[in-house]
Amino acid sequence: MTETVNNRHPDADIAPIFTERWSTRAFSSEQLTDEEIGKLFEAARWAPSSGNSQPWMVLYETDGPEREVFNSILRPGNQKWAPGAPLLGFFFAKNNRDDGGPLPTSQFDTGSAWMSLAFQATMMDLYAHAMAGIDKDAAYEKLGVSPDDYTVICAFVAGHRGDVSDLEDDLQARETPNDRDPVSQHVTRGVSR
Ligand SMILES: Cc1cc2nc3c(=O)[nH]c(=O)nc-3n(C[C@H](O)[C@H](O)[C@H](O)COP(=O)(O)O)c2cc1C
Repeated sequence: MTETVNNRHPDADIAPIFTERWSTRAFSSEQLTDEEIGKLFEAARWAPSSGNSQPWMVLYETDGPEREVFNSILRPGNQKWAPGAPLLGFFFAKNNRDDGGPLPTSQFDTGSAWMSLAFQATMMDLYAHAMAGIDKDAAYEKLGVSPDDYTVICAFVAGHRGDVSDLEDDLQARETPNDRDPVSQHVTRGVSR
């Protein structure tokens, strides 16, 4: 595994996990154990959601012929690195309640589930990386999900860190935790001015 220097410096004294989590593309082929996979999804299970609706659905695969199907849904940019990760999944958000009523925060809630999974991965010295670069039509068709019922949000991979040198040169150059805008650029006290 490659060690990468993390040069993130938060502007306030926050828990280290917030800057330690980052989206590597260098994954080891080492499979995750069932226990590790179970913990990732258990963390997602406890995410908050509007009315405790829990409107997320995850489909994932690790290996075998169905994993090839999952891989084929990724856009070319992600095809360069993500198929090598041990687990590939897709997050879907439910469109409506079972009684047909609306779920207006369904996609927001599904993002919370993803974030819980990602932080759990960090706590386990694993990595998770979300991907919007997917063929959405293929996701519905190949994974057997009706767009009437669910909206596909993104794919993600999870696993152990691998060797950066296994990546193509352009991807190797991006293998470092990136920075953020200052809080003031996104957060305002009071009304918008
Ligand atoms: C919803 C979502 C979609 C993303 N899509 C892609 C993607 O298709 N390919 C990719 O390489 N990274 C993707 N990323 C990773 C982002 O580029 C990354 O999270 C962002 O640059 C912040 O870096 P960090 O996660 O390392 O902190 C995605 C992240 C999110 C949350």
